Amino acid sequence: MGSSPFLIIAIDGGAASGKSSTSRALAERFNLLHVDTGSFYRHITAELLRRGVSHTDSATLQATLAQLNFSTQLDGRSARMLIDGQPAGDEIRGEQVTSHVSHYAAIPDVRRALLGYQRGQVDVAREHRFAGLVMEGRDIGSVIFPDATLRFFLHADPAERAKRRAAEGRADSIATRDQLDSSRKTAPLVCPPGAIDIDSTHLTLEQVVEKMSALIAEKLR
Ligand code: CDP
Ligand code: CDP
Repeated sequence: MGSSPFLIIAIDGGAASGKSSTSRALAERFNLLHVDTGSFYRHITAELLRRGVSHTDSATLQATLAQLNFSTQLDGRSARMLIDGQPAGDEIRGEQVTSHVSHYAAIPDVRRALLGYQRGQVDVAREHRFAGLVMEGRDIGSVIFPDATLRFFLHADPAERAKRRAAEGRADSIATRDQLDSSRKTAPLVCPPGAIDIDSTHLTLEQVVEKMSALIAEKLR
């Protein structure tokens, strides 16, 4: 009997489409490293805001990005990005970072700064003997891992997504972020050709996880 393949599961989708919840459940079920790339963009945004670097000041932005040092710390099954040895604080989920993150994420230099680091999570997963990784974001199936074992794209009606965020008690600019993320030139939010499109508007989290799990189990057979 051959050994199981190293799994790379890509999950993309708009804000509050269910990426983090499903990724965490799949990580648990299949012993995968969970990588939330949105938290990386949020952490960089918090750091640039802290340093007073505007997303419109490309020279200072470039110079600052070149100085940042990224490393990884495990928190259970999740990969936490450290910047210069420091983990992200709670403020990355706050209103200020949430309203700025899409502006920084649209800048090619910012995306380039994270590209190698994100792909390097495969080595982190192997080193810690995970069976693979599940990575969530906006461009995982299109740019980071176009050859992933499985690429999912989660859809849900904007009104349903706004309801989900409100139920979590979080202020969020879902429509504005989706608009900025979908219309940027570099790595826009799109369902790439060949990805498995799941509309979760009328599905429970468990139903979405079951659908994905069945397809993953098939790959392991
Ligand atoms: O959790 P939620 O869907 O609300 O957002 P997130 O995944 O934490 O991502 C925050 C922001 O980071 C997004 O609105 C994008 O602007 C950016 N992002 C990105 O551009 N590319 C990724 N792979 C992940 C996030
Ligand atoms: O990571 P992303 O921003 O895409 O979404 P999330 O934080 O995983 O999900 C937002 C909220 O919607 C969470 O409270 C989930 O429990 C809930 N939810 C879901 O993700 N999927 C469903 N089918 C139904 C509810």
